[in-house]
Order: sequence, then structure tokens, then C-alpha cells
Amino acid sequence: MKILSLGAGGFIGSHLTGKLLSLGHQMTAVDISGEKLSELREQPSLRFLEQDIRKPGWNLDGLVHDADLVIDLIAYANPGLYVKIPLEVFRLNFLENLKIAEACVRRGRRLIQFSTCEVYGRSPASLKASKVVDPEDPVHATFSEDSSEFILGPVEKHRWIYACSKQLLERVLHAYGLEQGFHYTIIRPFNFIGPKIDFLASERAGTIWV
Ligand SMILES: NC(=O)c1ccc[n+]([C@@H]2O[C@H](COP(=O)([O-])OP(=O)(O)OC[C@H]3O[C@@H](n4cnc5c(N)ncnc54)[C@H](O)[C@@H]3O)[C@@H](O)[C@H]2O)c1
Repeated sequence: MKILSLGAGGFIGSHLTGKLLSLGHQMTAVDISGEKLSELREQPSLRFLEQDIRKPGWNLDGLVHDADLVIDLIAYANPGLYVKIPLEVFRLNFLENLKIAEACVRRGRRLIQFSTCEVYGRSPASLKASKVVDPEDPVHATFSEDSSEFILGPVEKHRWIYACSKQLLERVLHAYGLEQGFHYTIIRPFNFIGPKIDFLASERAGTIWV
């Protein structure tokens, strides 16, 4: 397949690009930075475009048109930024990603959208912690992709703007599916870690850069 991968230069995107190339796909990779793709640069089936998707005038529609499949991984995915620059998080993670999704709708291309496990928000047990024997018991953190409730925190806790932006994008994709037969897949990673990750964040330990 001809695959357009946006945010391909990131932690997940760079691993995914290597894997998809090894399976014989032709990759067009878009990112602000191609550093993590450097070991793949010689691969003839990889085309890297250094592009900030917020800059107007780039060829989004043309690239989507030329692809069989679009993967969108672009986001601010650093928890420290959700409270520091919440508006930018909303603009990139929702508004800019919406433009990508709508280009896929216009061009009739399937989209694989990276969302987050954070759309589930708080578990019901965490809200009733005093009434539950062990709210940390994993049994309380079992989610169903299609039927679990999403429980987000109050507006003044800006941390939630990340989950809320991702959740709203999921709802818009679902609505395009319903109204216009749009084909999409949503992925909600539960904190992948591994080589090339930028940082590990923990409320107790602070942020560890690796
Ligand atoms: N890593 C995880 O465990 C995890 C968990 C939940 C959700 N996700 C989601 O998966 C996706 C990928 O996550 P990741 O961990 O690889 O993050 P990452 O930050 O490594 O990757 C995001 C990529 O997007 C690029 N990008 C950001 N702004 C851009 C712009 N304006 N123009 C072009 N490129 C831009 C970045 O340069 C980066 O390479 C994100 O949407 C994230 O929200 C990841």
C-alpha cells in the first residue's frame, strides 16, 4: 500500500514506519523532525517530508489523495504541556487533526487515528474510592471500547484538555462514519514505552528524560 504517515518521526511513528517498510509498503512520512527516522533514510520506499502541519499552504489534500491509507499520530503528547499551553494542545490535537480527518473524508481515504486511553478518564471506582475496598484493583480499570463511559475532570483542571480534544475528535470521526460512510480506525494506546521515547512522566517521580 501507499501509506501517508503524519507524525511518523515520533516515538510510535518511527517504529511503525520501520515495520511497515519491512512489510513492503511505500511510506510518505511527514513530521517536524526526521531524527528518529535517520536509520531508515536510505530505504527507497521511504519519502520524508519535513513539515509543520500548522503552516498554511502545504499539500495535505494532494498527499491524502495519493495515499491508499492515512495514519495520523500528530499530537502534543507530553503531559507537562497540557497544563502549560492548553490552547495549543487543543489547536494541534483537535483543530489541526480535524483538517487531516476532513481531507480523508473528502478524498475517500481510510484514516487510522491515534487517540489515547485517557479518553476513558477516571474509573468509576476512583470517584467512589471511600466505598470501594481497593480502588487500585485492576478489575476497576477494565474498559470496553464501545460501551465504557468517559469520565473527565473539571474544566479548571487543564490536564483534561488533552483527553477532551482526543475524545471530541473520536466523536467527529464517528459522526462522519454515521453520516457519510467514512472508514476509520481509532487506536487508544495505554502508555507504550520503549527505545526512542522522549520521556517518562510520573506524578510521584517527576519527568524522566531518557
Ligand atoms: N506513547 C504512548 O504511550 C501514547 C499514549 C496515548 C496516546 N498516544 C498518542 O499516539 C500518538 C503518537 O504518540 P508518540 O508517543 O509517538 O508521541 P511523539 O511526540 O513521539 O510523536 C508525535 C509526533 O508528532 C510530531 N508533530 C508534533 N507537532 C507537529 C506539527 N505541527 N507538524 C508535524 N509534526 C508534528 C512530533 O514531531 C512527533 O514526532 C499521539 O497522537 C499520542 O497522543 C501515545
